[in-house]
Amino acid sequence: MRSDTAAIVLAAGKGTRFRSEVAKVLHRAAGRSLLGHVLDAVRPLELAQTVVVVGHQAEDVEAELAQVELPRTTSVLQAEQRGTGHAVQQAVPALDPAIRRVLILPGDTPLLPAAVLEELLDGAGTGGAMLTARMADPHGYGRVVRAADGTVERVVEHRDASPAQLAIAEINAGMYVLDRAGLEAALGRLGDDNAQSEIYLTDIVALLAGAGSPVAAIDAPAAAIAGVNDRAQLADAAARLRAGHLDHLLREVGVSVVDPSSTYVDVDVEVARDAVLLPGTILEAGTRIGPGAVIGPHSHLTACTVGAGATVHSTRAEQATIGDGAAVGPFSHLRVGTVLGAHAKVGAYAETKNASVGEGSKVPHLAYVGDATVGAGVNIACGVITVNYDGRTKSHTTIEDGAFVGCDTMLVAPVTIGAGAYTAAGSTITEDVPAGALGIARSRQTTKEGWAERRRG
Ligand code: UD1
Ligand code: CA
Repeated sequence: MRSDTAAIVLAAGKGTRFRSEVAKVLHRAAGRSLLGHVLDAVRPLELAQTVVVVGHQAEDVEAELAQVELPRTTSVLQAEQRGTGHAVQQAVPALDPAIRRVLILPGDTPLLPAAVLEELLDGAGTGGAMLTARMADPHGYGRVVRAADGTVERVVEHRDASPAQLAIAEINAGMYVLDRAGLEAALGRLGDDNAQSEIYLTDIVALLAGAGSPVAAIDAPAAAIAGVNDRAQLADAAARLRAGHLDHLLREVGVSVVDPSSTYVDVDVEVARDAVLLPGTILEAGTRIGPGAVIGPHSHLTACTVGAGATVHSTRAEQATIGDGAAVGPFSHLRVGTVLGAHAKVGAYAETKNASVGEGSKVPHLAYVGDATVGAGVNIACGVITVNYDGRTKSHTTIEDGAFVGCDTMLVAPVTIGAGAYTAAGSTITEDVPAGALGIARSRQTTKEGWAERRRG
């Protein structure tokens, strides 16, 4: 652990340029919040402490922090967002006494890899350092102004820059590692005499240079430190994150992705070797795909687990578990709490919810199986419905191993179909059917010979 180093992450801003009711750092890119991406870059650094400055929608941002679960992390409130320097002023008093070095990061740089932060920390040595980059389009970024001897003299914000300064391609990434004492001294001298009347953190660079300890500039790849200030940049960052993850799956894991341009895989989705992702597949956060599984075309899975060798064709599934060798789709909807056993089958126009379907059982077409426990080797024929809701309460259906539920059976829950039992097609079953029995619940057919001829005559 780096026992003398803390991070301060700035996440209090509104993100005016997003035009959103939701705080900027909570917007998601490739399945993770912007803030979550930054904290994930901090995680491997093993810092002694992380202080996140919250303000706009503080409670929601704190809830996200709880989700991200970065160890040794607390938040401080910046009640009024008076600028990045003001944000750091709020955080410094929360630092532990043992902290000697502070890593300062914005909360809106989702492409930031941990390795770049390692370079910043290592490159700084005992002095202060900041990350800079050469941007093809530096619009919106602070420009790095260098002195005649090449050292960094100061940072000028885009809105305060002269035409000559705007022509500078070297920009400030907004990521610094600074000696705590020097930082605290400089923070005490910040003003707000600028175009936005904000307390700019960037002004500490000139203050430190003026005090004889200039901040070293460490060059970083532009793509790694890019900030997200509006939704166009968010979409761009998300696309880069997805492309990077697909590239990892293709080259390092050994996953076939037939058409990366139409395949959307969130960064935390795990896909095992020899899985095949067919076009139009969307795999959202929390999903895990087993080896050799074939997903798509046109499957959309959220927080699902798919076993080895399963196939999931044209399917929507949320929080479902699909067993090894199971076959799902086309046109199936697996809702929350679905658990399909090995080699189970759920086919066209079938919907499942809060239901386990045992090994080798089949729900091949046009059925609703909700709030149900279905054993192994069960056949649920076309048109079967578990009637789980009476308008007030949900009730459970149990179908034991080897049962055969005939076409168009209504299973009015709570009800149990015993092992190996049958229900007759078209039955509305309201009472349990014991093991090995046939349940038949329908009116007898009346056949009127010659009826059609009489009607026509
Ligand atoms: C900032 C830098 C700029 C740099 C760029 C890199 C300043 C003044 N400018 O500009 O030099 O090139 O980042 O991406 O620092 N925040 C707070 N409280 C506030 C204001 C902002 O917590 O009062 C947070 C925001 O939520 C955000 C981060 O600080 O996560 C950066 O703020 P933002 O407004 O995006 O700064 P930029 O204009 O991008
Ligand atoms: Ca920004």
